[in-house]
Amino acid sequence: MTKTRPTLGEFIIDNQQDFPYSTGELSRLIRSIRLAAKVVNHEVNKAGLVDITGAAGEQNIQGEDQQKLDVFANNIFIQTLTNREIVCGIASEENDDFITIAGSRNDHKNKYVVLMDPLDGSSNIDVNVSVGTIFSIYRRVTPLGTPVTSEDFLQPGNLQVAAGYIIYGTSTMLVYTTGHGVNGFTLNPALGSWYLSHPDMKFPENGNIYSINEGNYAHFPTGVKKYIKYCQEEEGDRPYTSRYIGSMVSDIHRNMIKGGIYIYPKSTKYDKGKLRLLYECNPMAFIVEQAGGKASDGYQRVMDIMPTELHERSAIFCGSKKMVEKAEAFMKEFG
Ligand code: AHG
Ligand code: MN
Ligand code: MN
Ligand code: MN
Repeated sequence: MTKTRPTLGEFIIDNQQDFPYSTGELSRLIRSIRLAAKVVNHEVNKAGLVDITGAAGEQNIQGEDQQKLDVFANNIFIQTLTNREIVCGIASEENDDFITIAGSRNDHKNKYVVLMDPLDGSSNIDVNVSVGTIFSIYRRVTPLGTPVTSEDFLQPGNLQVAAGYIIYGTSTMLVYTTGHGVNGFTLNPALGSWYLSHPDMKFPENGNIYSINEGNYAHFPTGVKKYIKYCQEEEGDRPYTSRYIGSMVSDIHRNMIKGGIYIYPKSTKYDKGKLRLLYECNPMAFIVEQAGGKASDGYQRVMDIMPTELHERSAIFCGSKKMVEKAEAFMKEFG
């Protein structure tokens, strides 16, 4: 494997045309994320051996109990990006507000902001099931040389410059897009290098997996209930298979490889949906679309939603194009 596949570093050099307005800053940013991911991966792998599982004893702004690894991963990504002075601001699921990074020259001269979910699926940590990291990158809209403002973060998903995720699974992978398709790299832990293992990833146009937390069925809108029943009906290629890990990164990663739909709808429990638009839905939507799939909130393209707050939530229906279109038809008919 190590002889024939390019490493992530080689891939970035060979694909400079994928880095718009390239001054090397975005490549350096991806390299920093790759470094932080290795550190988090190392720690995730030790869960169970060292005191890294369980609750940290604090709640985040979402009202969720932070896990120790939520806090650890958050600190590692923030430190790595801050120390390398390649972004002008960071927003994270685990921080109430965005962080301004002035740089050691205090000149606010970096042009990108990063939004991230440092550890996705944190309820899976204690049971040795895959977790992930999600990141979303935008060019700042306020003038270089001034501190970032909320305007730099509250941009629609269709303005993302790059997005990606890391999945800490049976193997660890980094999957990302700069708007020119999706490529997946697998970490060789012995060498600490990422190799291009999944070039040009594509969502199958149709699939037979549906992923949704059916325990919330009673709280779902009628359109979602009817779509679930449709998935379960005995007809043609149905019933579909139900698979739900409870980490959107892992659920969407599997569906991208096998073909399927991932749904986290609005419900009477979560009137705006549970997942966060800026650092969960938008980056995953960008990847899904770049892989030929579709990402909708049930009615409109996720990436066209104009955000109004940092921790805003959204419903999401994403995955194989034909499956998402079918689910949208149910939403349109039954609401
Ligand atoms: P996080 O661990 O970053 O807070 O995200 C958890 C999210 C998402 O990853 C997952 O798909 C979903 O919450 C699971 O929610 P339910 O337990 O409500 O199904
Ligand atoms: Mn959380
Ligand atoms: Mn998450
Ligand atoms: Mn998280």
